[in-house]
Amino acid sequence: MLGISVFILLIALTLSLVQASPVFFEQTILKSPSKRPRYENGELPPFRDTVGWVDPRLNGGRQLDYTDDRIGEPLNVIISSLSDPYILTETGLHMYAKSIGFSEECLGMHYGHIHEANLGDGLGRKQEQFLARQDYVPVIGTCWESVRGGHHFRAWKQNGTLADSGAWFLGASKEKDSSKNHKITEDGYNLGRDFIVDRATAGTRWRGMWWKADVEWKEGLLQRGTRDVNHNIAQDGRVAILTVNRL
Ligand SMILES: *[C@@H]1O[C@H](CO)[C@@H](O)[C@H](O)[C@H]1NC(C)=O
Repeated sequence: MLGISVFILLIALTLSLVQASPVFFEQTILKSPSKRPRYENGELPPFRDTVGWVDPRLNGGRQLDYTDDRIGEPLNVIISSLSDPYILTETGLHMYAKSIGFSEECLGMHYGHIHEANLGDGLGRKQEQFLARQDYVPVIGTCWESVRGGHHFRAWKQNGTLADSGAWFLGASKEKDSSKNHKITEDGYNLGRDFIVDRATAGTRWRGMWWKADVEWKEGLLQRGTRDVNHNIAQDGRVAILTVNRL
């Protein structure tokens, strides 16, 4: 009798330890969104205790930027602050963007609308801090892409006091040419993200600096589909967390 009670007690203790363990939680709950409890509106709750970035939703932000007061574009790539410290600086990010195949705006001219983002770092909605466009023809530079359309991304740094991770949040997409007024192509958000991830994980270089990124995919930061998404273009809800290492 005592033997059986002790046995049951041990089983119960083991189960409660497994349940409470952060590793168990991370591996079985967070990594399989279907098992995470959802809010009534179907959204998944914020991630906690992430390393190298902070879920903007923890402090009133969101993973969509703002093109107006409601709709926005997905911040579908995060460059974690575990990355090469150089690319966490503004100059460094510009160099890294060049290594991927982007350049800065043509002759300092801004095409298109300034977006804002609230990264939940206490700074509220702030204007984009960098806009990079794909460089099709090196001689003509970004001017050519600005006419032709192509890949681009906007970036914001999470560095307010409420979430001072130092990570970059990127909203990447692929555009049609400018005769269509910089409209995003069909599946343009997923394509824009995957373009960056493919190149970053393959390895890039710029002026003697070499980088290679590890990627971790997170579901649940963005809701899959078109809700509040600019141009009503569906995205798959996946965010690529990049850790970019200097080789
Ligand atoms: C946060 O990062 C942005 C972009 O690099 C920079 O302009 C700003 O000064 C930084 N703010 C703080 C408080 O460090």
